[in-house]
Amino acid sequence: MQALQLFEKLEPEFALIDLNPKVAEFACEVIKGLRLSQKRISPKFFYDQKGSELFEKICETEEYYVTRLETALLKKHAAEICRHLDGMTLIELGSGASEKIRILLRQIRELVAYVPVDISKSFLLESAARLQKDFQELSIIPVCADFTLPVDLPALPQFQGQKAAFFPGSTIGNFDPQDATLLLKRIGQMVGVGGHLLIGVDLVKPLGVLEAAYNDSHGVTRDFNLNLLARMNTELDADFDLQGFAHRAFFSEEFNRIEMHLVSLKDQSVTVGESSFEFRKEETIHTECSYKYTRDRFLALARSAGFELKDFWTDPDLYFGEFLLEFRPQASAGLKRSGSESR
Ligand code: AVI
Repeated sequence: MQALQLFEKLEPEFALIDLNPKVAEFACEVIKGLRLSQKRISPKFFYDQKGSELFEKICETEEYYVTRLETALLKKHAAEICRHLDGMTLIELGSGASEKIRILLRQIRELVAYVPVDISKSFLLESAARLQKDFQELSIIPVCADFTLPVDLPALPQFQGQKAAFFPGSTIGNFDPQDATLLLKRIGQMVGVGGHLLIGVDLVKPLGVLEAAYNDSHGVTRDFNLNLLARMNTELDADFDLQGFAHRAFFSEEFNRIEMHLVSLKDQSVTVGESSFEFRKEETIHTECSYKYTRDRFLALARSAGFELKDFWTDPDLYFGEFLLEFRPQASAGLKRSGSESR
């Protein structure tokens, strides 16, 4: 990877590392997904401009506790968390608007660099510029990349020392456990042996609380889900009747996950470009899984990817967990061999 050639000077204080992420082929993936017996579309397609705005609104609903609880945890324990991260290069995965990181940046004594990683170049540069205004001394190195694939960081001095990744918002919950393990392994490779991962994870909780969070009373989550159909109509020349589908979200005890679906309200046929698809009444498109973990179940997953627990913070109800992990692949393998899994 000739990363240094991709190192593009934008403004005097700013440099973007553009790893040119391949924007997922929306059309191909949709057509493939709608041909499956259980129709499905990846949740990564929720986030066009409108979808990203709706997600921000979801975070403000009374029922969606995730953002509020994590923000409160980070605020409450910022000093302690930051002691672990002091002097490192901090890499935020899927940095988006870079809001939560501000809580840590206000506390941290010294960082080698802050490295926001996001697939959307314009979003990345905008939020990095805003952050730079507020934290003028901070060295910010934005990286435009798809963090779900291996991220090849260039051989800059800032990446040679101790590294920590920050992966908030329980985005890990949107990956099936197998993919989540693979992603954690990749993060481990990125931070290197002895590197850290600060990760926010939504925990199992009473069914009513969980299901309300994905069925908010103002219908924002419904609009977020249905926006996928609107997006296909605009971008893929599809003819989904938005009145012909409903939002459905429920907790599956079997898989420990919230499932979101779009339910066809009638027998209907839909075209997407040149392809056509039949829907029976009540047939669904599965649009998202949001896995919920217990502390121990998440730790088992993290260990299987080579991470060890360093610290853990949660709220009094145990609704949300912030895990500080250290990449120690040999230690985890050793533990497994000796059969000791509990902590
Ligand atoms: C981004 N992700 C962690 C959210 C979640 O809770 O799974 C996405 C979301 N879907 C509906 N509401 C929020």
